[in-house]
Amino acid sequence: MLCTVVHAMAIPTSPKERNLNATAAVAAAVVPAAGRGERLGPGAPKALRELGGVPLLVHAVRALARSRAVGLVVVAAPPEGVAEVVALLDSHGLDGKDIRVVAGGATRQESVRLGLAAIPAGVEIVLVHDAARPLVPVDVVDAVVAAVRAGAEAVVPAVPLADTVKRVVPQAAGRPEPVVETPDRATLRAVQTPQGFRRAVLCEVHEKALAEETLAEAEGGLPPVTDDAGLVERFGGQVVVVPGHEEAFKVTRPLDLVLAEAVLARRRASDGF
Ligand code: CTP
Ligand code: MG
Repeated sequence: MLCTVVHAMAIPTSPKERNLNATAAVAAAVVPAAGRGERLGPGAPKALRELGGVPLLVHAVRALARSRAVGLVVVAAPPEGVAEVVALLDSHGLDGKDIRVVAGGATRQESVRLGLAAIPAGVEIVLVHDAARPLVPVDVVDAVVAAVRAGAEAVVPAVPLADTVKRVVPQAAGRPEPVVETPDRATLRAVQTPQGFRRAVLCEVHEKALAEETLAEAEGGLPPVTDDAGLVERFGGQVVVVPGHEEAFKVTRPLDLVLAEAVLARRRASDGF
């Protein structure tokens, strides 16, 4: 169902819906943007917070739209902010791309599912990109699409870790946590977005996850999956990694916003970005 239905409520951001050149090679991107941004502190929903005077969401959509491979962007907006997001994207003139807005859900997974349902038939490659990653370079977007075009069913951009990572037994806040193991850092990657998928694969794992959630609700639910590739893994699919970029980091805490402002200022100074 998820794979075939065109969501009747998807709102194009301009009055005249642009034609999507829906060949199999053109990718559609879903941008989950419905989170509160609790770790960033009090204020507007994170996607609407500003970076260099422009909302994070607008940066993220622009970053995707910059790729010639992307023909359509579907934004999953905070449910109470759909009209505001439509107006916002319209006012920032993202010419030449078909941009649509749907109401997001209570979890990231649900927001992605709702966005997926708004992608028209004929599109075979889907990207999922966090609104909270405003500065992803276009080369990363292109590399992910290229890997899907080359035959991978699920692709994630990722970078090596700087810190050593330990698995612990979580304790109440403030209590020391026993270490269980130290995985070999050379085999670990920090995963970013956009993640890219064969559309049918992503639809299938979201449908399966929804069915499982319903079954598991009585038993306290399933462990949360924090990215879409995680769903592919859960159901036995093969995910591959391509090089990400340090500037594709996620704005999660206040310090991330400080870093993002610095990166943007450097780009603006160096190339009038
Ligand atoms: N997201 C979403 N719908 C939700 C929750 C999250 O679309 N119900 C989106 C966020 O808007 C963000 C992305 O998923 O672009 C990554 O999530 P995260 O960084 O965790 O953002 P928030 O959930 O907003 O932040 P926090 O967890 O600190 O509240
Ligand atoms: Mg969150």
